[in-house]
Amino acid sequence: MTKKIILDCDPGHDDAIAILLAHGNPEIELLAVTTVVGNQTLEKVTKNALAVARIANITGVPFAAGCPRPLVRQIEVAPDIHGESGLDGPVLPEPAIDLDTRHAVDLIIDTIMAHPAKTITLVPTGGLTNIALAARKEPRIVERVKEVVLMGGGYHVGNWSAVAEFNIKIDPEAAHIVFNEKWPLTMVGLDLTHQALATPEVVDKIKKVGTQPAKFVLELLDFFGAAYKDAQGFDAPPVHDPCAVAYVIDPAVMTVKKVPVDIELTGTLTLGMTVADFRAPAPADCHTQVAVKLNHTYFWDLVVDALTRIGEVKI
Ligand code: BDR
Ligand code: CA
Repeated sequence: MTKKIILDCDPGHDDAIAILLAHGNPEIELLAVTTVVGNQTLEKVTKNALAVARIANITGVPFAAGCPRPLVRQIEVAPDIHGESGLDGPVLPEPAIDLDTRHAVDLIIDTIMAHPAKTITLVPTGGLTNIALAARKEPRIVERVKEVVLMGGGYHVGNWSAVAEFNIKIDPEAAHIVFNEKWPLTMVGLDLTHQALATPEVVDKIKKVGTQPAKFVLELLDFFGAAYKDAQGFDAPPVHDPCAVAYVIDPAVMTVKKVPVDIELTGTLTLGMTVADFRAPAPADCHTQVAVKLNHTYFWDLVVDALTRIGEVKI
């Protein structure tokens, strides 16, 4: 049985790799890709998502654009990490597929309502604006999805402030909605994704794949690595977003811990913090868990395997 997912993203170097992992892994059935303002404007990240589709020859999967700004706050983008295009580094091809005419929120709702209950996993790897709006527009999706596995937050670390992570901080009100709905939710946060470093050994393995899509990933990692070194002093870049997809493929790729998590909305220094309560025992009705420890080799083997299966795609 494949695992059906909707990937809601803001490509973004690591979002692009998340799309490739989802497309190339045989366990995953990618039902839709939706975009949301985040690493760059909605227009730019949507263009980037379509470029990734062309690079990996993804056809038959609807792509739809969603919210152009957060629910309450002004737009904040991340050019220091992802460049002016949101996907700086490689030369991007023109799209080969048309966008779905629906708003991402409607595509998400339609897709969930059209499938049997508890068969679809939502995988958000950007701000949570689309997902929050979908839950408000059609509350029945909360009961219907199997789970939400998101990249965002961090229980002991921030990157957009001392204690808040980018995807949560750019739209904390949306995150508050998503974390407080009672669907099973796995937070794959910075504590975990800072272990997903694209080390020189990883880069060598990707080089060996030898295809154009693999070359695209290497060009992404080149830019991303330099940006992460300059902006945050990392020796190798943490490749956040595919970690959420990897958890859906095989939860054994990481260890998780059930703890209540809520979003700080009023703190002057802590806005957007994912406040995780590690006091034991977790309440019986706790519906959230956080990712703790990554199996680095297994994770990168999944990425390399997906690229190998995607094979050569000439443009
Ligand atoms: C998250 O923020 C974005 O810049 C990345 O794509 C990732 O989703 C990491 O904090
Ligand atoms: Ca992202």
